[in-house]
Amino acid sequence: MHQKVRKAIIPAAGFGTRMLPATKSVPKELLPIVDRPILDYIVAEAFASGIEHVAIVTGRMKGAIEDYFDHAFEVDVSLRNAGKHGLADRMAQYTPAAGSISFVRQQQARGLGHAVWTARQIVGDEPFAVLLPDMLMVADEPCLKSMMDLHARHGGNVVAVERCAPEETHKFGIVSLQSTGGDPLVEGLVEKTGAGRGAEQPFHLRALHPSA
Ligand code: UTP
Repeated sequence: MHQKVRKAIIPAAGFGTRMLPATKSVPKELLPIVDRPILDYIVAEAFASGIEHVAIVTGRMKGAIEDYFDHAFEVDVSLRNAGKHGLADRMAQYTPAAGSISFVRQQQARGLGHAVWTARQIVGDEPFAVLLPDMLMVADEPCLKSMMDLHARHGGNVVAVERCAPEETHKFGIVSLQSTGGDPLVEGLVEKTGAGRGAEQPFHLRALHPSA
């Protein structure tokens, strides 16, 4: 049995240039899917998977992320005074328990690896999860839970991937798999292939899960 994964890092300090002009004033990670920001779904996935502490990496212009995960005292009181307890309860349902979420600043957007490194003091020497908050995985069992189960069985690094069209492979991290008869093993990984290269193994890298 390998050391339990208790902590997750969610990098959310990027500029979100592909979503401009919306991201001029709204962090990409807070853009809504129906009535909740995408980041809320990702944080909920982490806790539903058994993560005990989430560290979100934020940056300049991202203060709204911290506010979102805070208890909105005035709104709560106002809703309850108006008898709208259902709405107030729904709001509270998505507020993480005190002490279960923290925020760290990446002062310069120096890339994803640097964002993860920025949270190093929060995870210490423990194995940890990384969830990217711009990709939503819909599954009966949370994707991260499946990854954590794999880690408990095998240790090492676990990565979640999905298929992508061959002509899209140059946009994504690509892995090649070794078939073992059981859980597949990654034998090669390229951050982004040149157009046309790697098309025979089209997978989309979604999240890394480095472990101690
Ligand atoms: P992306 O490359 O998808 O996000 O990084 P981005 O940089 O915001 O987007 P574009 O390319 O400008 O449109 C994946 C995740 O890593 C975070 C982003 O916030 C996003 O959630 N990230 C990226 C950081 O936290 N810091 C960085 O320096 C870069």
